[in-house]
Amino acid sequence: AVYYVLVIVVGYFCGCIESGYLVGKLCGMDIRDYGSGNSGTTNVLRVLGKTRALLTFLGDALKSFVPVLIVKFVLCPAVPDLNAELIQLVTGFAAVMGHDYPVFLKFKGGKGIATTAAAMMAFDWRIGLCCFIIFVTVTAVTRYVSLASILLSAGIVVEILIFHPGRWDLFAMCVLYAFFAIYRHRANIGRLLSGTESKIGQKVNVNK
Ligand code: G3P
Repeated sequence: AVYYVLVIVVGYFCGCIESGYLVGKLCGMDIRDYGSGNSGTTNVLRVLGKTRALLTFLGDALKSFVPVLIVKFVLCPAVPDLNAELIQLVTGFAAVMGHDYPVFLKFKGGKGIATTAAAMMAFDWRIGLCCFIIFVTVTAVTRYVSLASILLSAGIVVEILIFHPGRWDLFAMCVLYAFFAIYRHRANIGRLLSGTESKIGQKVNVNK
């Protein structure tokens, strides 16, 4: 149990490193006051352009990718009794929670998609690849990043059943990932349903 506490605490604080917020601050603004009010890659792209969006994505992805890889290749081999797959998913989930609910920013963070997808890539590259394919396809076809994010998240629950059948512990973790990802998109879902969600490439102001 002590290892789980360790990965949850370390994962959470890695997740709290809010790249979009930091990139915004470097540009002299609180990104959460602009566009959709989100601190993720999509909103940085909308408000601050491609290069800063790329930086945001890399930061948000690495903060789960690196901890999950360390757990996978350092902690798990050193402690063979651990449930290796489960503790990797717990580590990534803690990072997503840090991203979505950062203690340093009054728990007002992002939606956790880059962090979720990167955790999946580190855990099982096949699931990471599915995330990538779903995201790119849905974004290209519909131009809605939020819809792509929601479907990517829902897809994880299916992919874990395909690639790790019978692992209900991992399935439960993936349900948690998907639940929070979709819950964090509830304002986007409302806008998608009312036809007011902004499409990628559009420089529109959407209030939360
Ligand atoms: O991952 C976030 C994306 O799906 C939506 O971002 O800024 O349009 O709410 P945003």
